[in-house]
Amino acid sequence: MNGLVLEVDRAQTADREDFRRAVLDGLSRRPRAIPAKFLYDARGSALFDEICDLPEYYLTRTETAILRDHAGDIAALAGPDCALIEFGSGSSVKSRLLLDAMKPALYAPIDISREHLDRSIVHLRRDYPSLPIEGVCADYMTFAGLPPLSASSSRRIGFFPGSSIGNLEPHEALAFFRRAWALLGENGALVLGVDLKKDPGLLHAAYNDSAGVTAAFTLNLLRRMNRELQATFDLGRFAHEAFYNPVAGRIEIYFRSLGEQTVTVAGRPFAFADGERVHTEYSYKYDIAQLRKLTQAGGFRLDRVWTDPDRLFAVAYLTAFA
Ligand code: AVJ
Repeated sequence: MNGLVLEVDRAQTADREDFRRAVLDGLSRRPRAIPAKFLYDARGSALFDEICDLPEYYLTRTETAILRDHAGDIAALAGPDCALIEFGSGSSVKSRLLLDAMKPALYAPIDISREHLDRSIVHLRRDYPSLPIEGVCADYMTFAGLPPLSASSSRRIGFFPGSSIGNLEPHEALAFFRRAWALLGENGALVLGVDLKKDPGLLHAAYNDSAGVTAAFTLNLLRRMNRELQATFDLGRFAHEAFYNPVAGRIEIYFRSLGEQTVTVAGRPFAFADGERVHTEYSYKYDIAQLRKLTQAGGFRLDRVWTDPDRLFAVAYLTAFA
């Protein structure tokens, strides 16, 4: 089954139906909101890759540097013959640092985007010809099963990089840790990348880049609705909006209506007031104490934390406890 994407989640028509339902629900509710996972269609995933290379977006390069410096430490903690399970693998760039250091018996990337998953598996199979890879196309928040641990792998190590945990509200993050705990098992561990609290000016710049790529990423959701749900959003009449909310400790991202207008989505009209916003993302920022509390509540002990010299980002090694 090497390199074969398991059809564990849903077919594409069901995905479309999922999207339709989420959008109609989200636009009917007040305040309006659409779940962040729908930002990652093929174009959205490509735009996100571009975001990762932006000068203002320190997250990816900082996390990569921490992983490069400490992959050996992580491999030593994990021990030999483990199964590396990645939650939301995207293009699997950072995973290679762990694969090189850990030499796992199995690599199981879980990703919601089939295109991304297929492409990264093709590349990984070329570069790691002897590594067994079992890709899983699924939403890691709702997904329950994993391929059984093969005889050659002794323990499961989860990998949740990119501060994707920051997309989740605290109660969802807790649910993620509990789910990960159940998937990884008693002997399991989790390598987690988390963006840290810092100067709001730096945060603001990271989500309002001068090249406008983050804006294009947000507005791509409107494009996706136009294409997949026969929506009539005029991309010139909505704007990306992102700011740091210091009380909640999170970046908040919206698209905002420039003027009063009515948009049709899947045959239904939705009126927007001038300045009305639709929420698309949160990006929570943590400090180590908060992180320890949250992961502990989810069943993990915060064993090690590595950061960069400016303490912008943290990579944590968490051990599941019984
Ligand atoms: C993938 C959720 C970590 O919150 O920084 C980046 C997503 N959105 N710029 C983040 C994102 C706009 C990103 N995460």
